[in-house]
Amino acid sequence: MKLPDSVTLIEVGPRDGLQNEAQFVPTDTKLAFIRHLWSAGFKEMEVTSFVSPKWVPQMMDSKEIMHLAGNQKGTIVLAPNKKGIEAALSSGAKSIAVFLGVSSTFNQKNINKSTKEAMEDLIPQIKILKTKGVFVRACISTAFYCPYEGRIEPQSTLDLCRQFAEAGADELSVADTIGRATPKEAFELFSLLKSRLPEMLLTAHFHDTKKMALANIYASLLAGIDRFDSSAGGLGGCPFAPGASGNVATEDVVYMLENMGIQTGINPDVLVEAISIVKPYVSRPILSGYYISSTIEKGT
Ligand code: HMG
Ligand code: MG
Repeated sequence: MKLPDSVTLIEVGPRDGLQNEAQFVPTDTKLAFIRHLWSAGFKEMEVTSFVSPKWVPQMMDSKEIMHLAGNQKGTIVLAPNKKGIEAALSSGAKSIAVFLGVSSTFNQKNINKSTKEAMEDLIPQIKILKTKGVFVRACISTAFYCPYEGRIEPQSTLDLCRQFAEAGADELSVADTIGRATPKEAFELFSLLKSRLPEMLLTAHFHDTKKMALANIYASLLAGIDRFDSSAGGLGGCPFAPGASGNVATEDVVYMLENMGIQTGINPDVLVEAISIVKPYVSRPILSGYYISSTIEKGT
């Protein structure tokens, strides 16, 4: 299989990267992080989410974030339901990511609804968004494993993806929420999705709990995927997916791909600077290979 000449990286650090952090990151710091990340070269970025502040307090400043940084082309916000979608629209969002897991137990913990109930609510919302010309990204959680139900059958993931495609979603971001998939599983699921949903824009979203994410990206490239979500510094995790660690670190993805001759358009040294903006507020150490080696080289 021929590898692509270039890929698109969607930065999810300001949203997935920060949502799991208990200490509130001041809005000004988030804005500085977002602006610095844009300057690294991204064309698409998840900047915040319109979710309940009782459920995810870190995202309580979504309106302000959008007011002050929402004009940038390629800005994506998450929204779980009608209320969140309406708030996202009022904030001027042109690209909205809805999200749903394949596993009903995960959905019950994450959004207080079963998969079927949530899908019944989301389908009409997606149709409304399409009449308004909004780009709809559908994030499919627990596509490989669920923290509560275990292994998820590829057919179940395909079924949910198909429902979103039929509802009119423009993109599917298919996630290994708890970072347990192997390259074989990544290759098989993405090959299946590519063959059954050939018209869909497909993106892979890997968390890195078992340190499989880079290998999974390589396996997904072989399956024909050329869009990847990643988070600067490897920050991230879902508060309702116990045991999950951060997303794959963007700077490591950039290093791997660029050194394989695959263009990303992203400057990893600018990412290292961006990480230093939020580092004082985050609870976990920054352990990406690129970050560690570049800070050793600089003696910092
Ligand atoms: P609920 O408590 O069932 O909501 O939460 P409700 O409809 O019963 O309403 C209760 C209250 O919440 C009401 O307010 C509503 O107005 C309010 P009150 O009358 O009590 O003052 N409410 C909202 N407020 C703000 N924004 C909203 C909203 N909706 C209702 N959108 C709800 C249901 C979905 C709101 C809640 O469960 C929630 O916010 N969940 C979000 C969880 C989340 O953000 N998870 C992380 C994102 S997904 C992820 O990270 C996975 C991903 O990265 C891919 C992967 O790795 O798998 C994308
Ligand atoms: Mg995630």
